[in-house]
Amino acid sequence: MSAESPRIEATEFTNPNLEMLYTEEQIRDRITELGRQITNEYRERDLVLVSVLKGSCVFLADLMRAIDLRLTIDFMSVSSYKDGTVSTGDVEILKDLSNSIRGKDVIVVEDIVDTGLTLSRLLEILSSRGANSIKLATFLDKPEPRVKTELKIDYTGFVVPNRFLVGYGLDAAGRYRNLPFIAAVRDPSVA
Ligand code: IMP
Ligand code: MG
Repeated sequence: MSAESPRIEATEFTNPNLEMLYTEEQIRDRITELGRQITNEYRERDLVLVSVLKGSCVFLADLMRAIDLRLTIDFMSVSSYKDGTVSTGDVEILKDLSNSIRGKDVIVVEDIVDTGLTLSRLLEILSSRGANSIKLATFLDKPEPRVKTELKIDYTGFVVPNRFLVGYGLDAAGRYRNLPFIAAVRDPSVA
């Protein structure tokens, strides 16, 4: 940087504590592929995408536009991580679906599967509601800390290393959901 150029405050997207892992372009390409796959597999079905708030809202918004089928969406909110980075195993329904899934072909849309505790519990709850089928799509799969090893993931964006990731809907204590890319937090104590 030359002496004349003024020092510009780092913005959120160029925060030096973030290490980019997947760019916007990589994400877009992968979601286009996932959308095509789902489009092929759900023809003539009664598809409903169930997004698990808040983290999966960005993935849902892109994935649904990559699926060229008649479909509906619904939302659920469950708490697992409070404000920290460690899974408690406790799952509480904060917001339930607005519509019945009886007879529907459901794809649960998640941002990330880590231990799998949240999803396993959620799938248990949904499986008692008479859906025709329930599958699972996660943007990120972090297999290393998995506790629920029997959890079957049907559609995965990227398999990721065991690091704390943010962006594209994923947060650190509420922050960073708006990053258009996926990054690892270099020093979580600073985040
Ligand atoms: P699990 O119950 O351990 O599978 O984690 C479920 C939830 O924890 C995810 O839906 C995320 O909201 C959150 N989570 C897990 N890993 C990360 C991460 O690396 N960054 C941000 N949130 C995470
Ligand atoms: Mg989540």
